[in-house]
Amino acid sequence: MQSSLPLILDRAAGPPLHLQLAEQVRAAIRDGRLQAGHRLPSTRDLAKDLAVSRSVAQAAYDQLHAEGWIEGRTGAGTFVTDVAPLQPAVRRRREPRPDPDAGLLTLRPGIPYISPTPDPGWRRAWREVSAQSPPRGYDDAAGLPALREALADHVGRVRGIACGPENVLVTNGTVHGLRLLLAVTLQPGERIAIEDPGYLNAVGAARDHRLEIVDVPVDEDGLRVSALTECSAVYVTPSHQYPLGGRLPVARRNELVRWARRTGTLLIEDDYDSEFRYDVAPLPALAQLDLDRVVHLGTLSKTLSPSLRLGWLVAADTMVDRLATFRANSGDWPAWPMQAALLTMLRDGYLDQSVRRNRRLYADRRLHTCTALAPYGQVIGQDAGLHITLLLPDHVNDHEVTRLARASGVVIAPLSEYRRTNPGPPGLVIGYATPSTPDLHKALALLTDVLNRVTNR
Ligand SMILES: Cc1ncc(COP(=O)(O)O)c(C=O)c1O
Repeated sequence: MQSSLPLILDRAAGPPLHLQLAEQVRAAIRDGRLQAGHRLPSTRDLAKDLAVSRSVAQAAYDQLHAEGWIEGRTGAGTFVTDVAPLQPAVRRRREPRPDPDAGLLTLRPGIPYISPTPDPGWRRAWREVSAQSPPRGYDDAAGLPALREALADHVGRVRGIACGPENVLVTNGTVHGLRLLLAVTLQPGERIAIEDPGYLNAVGAARDHRLEIVDVPVDEDGLRVSALTECSAVYVTPSHQYPLGGRLPVARRNELVRWARRTGTLLIEDDYDSEFRYDVAPLPALAQLDLDRVVHLGTLSKTLSPSLRLGWLVAADTMVDRLATFRANSGDWPAWPMQAALLTMLRDGYLDQSVRRNRRLYADRRLHTCTALAPYGQVIGQDAGLHITLLLPDHVNDHEVTRLARASGVVIAPLSEYRRTNPGPPGLVIGYATPSTPDLHKALALLTDVLNRVTNR
């Protein structure tokens, strides 16, 4: 090898000598200069030839041997192995995808207002987390016991659900909890009833689990319970139907729970934005009525930020145990720092305080949004949450309005995007929480310009 392969080691710089040597031999095998079966010099001869210590040659051979490029044959020496050398993978560069909404004002529903300056309560929580060493081992797959306890108190206090820590599972948000629940409780092919129009991520979760989706119509009060047919589970957003915004009246809640008891159906209550209500009395959570029939999903996505990926699932203790056992096998539960921070935020009242502050902020914005949009159609769903829906006259194409609004610099969601088989008027789903107040005013001015054009045609 010495004569045919000029091996040059750079003693002054670069990687350690044994790595340089290994790389040059590897390259020679890869490009065919050293063929399978070729006998390599002994480490002693190679070291002598290159004027390096034998340990350098030995370390290079050990590396090549471990990677499978060479093999030792007892009594005969070291040989290039008989494997077709693979081309090393090259990194395929991909241009970062530009954000299609960059530079636009957004009125898309779903994202809360996030103050650009972090609150003292937020900073305190993270200071406390950083002052602790991480736990020694794996955490409980259902969530930190102290956090489950604090969440049980929280949902008891704000949603009236009588439960204890054994009823709580900490999740990475609603969709995570929903997917976990579907995976553990339903078999592909089983029927799940979902509101139509409804939450696209719930539909996506059911489709991915290959469930048969039953489209249940919705009216201004929410799910039409009388339209339910036999199924294994019902997904419902009773506190603020997504996206039409109905608040399921008590009588219908009772009817739904009674129906579920009679038919043995599981009710999945997505309670995504119940913290925000304006001048209307709270309505009982379905889980308050029957925790044996109802699985309740809560989230921080509307109160603090969807980026936290944190929420909770409240259910019968036996259900929580099943879900936790499934999760223990997949390692799929929220990270300790997130859980520890939430525990501090609950203990210090930071979550309540943020909700109170944002409720005041959203109440004003909601009023302004309703006033600005009322001349163009029927505003519905304004009693709760972070969005309203504007029903438009039948001749208006809501996709076209969305395109025109985007061209003017505003992102909105067309109502027809959420419809599946149940027909209904066109409309816009308008989130008023995300932008700053001045940006909301600008966005509404741009949107009403567009609406003036399309509704007066
Ligand atoms: C109906 C509904 N449920 C739940 C969520 C929140 O989901 P997650 O907690 O997974 O962020 C949203 C957010 O837009 C929603 O619209």
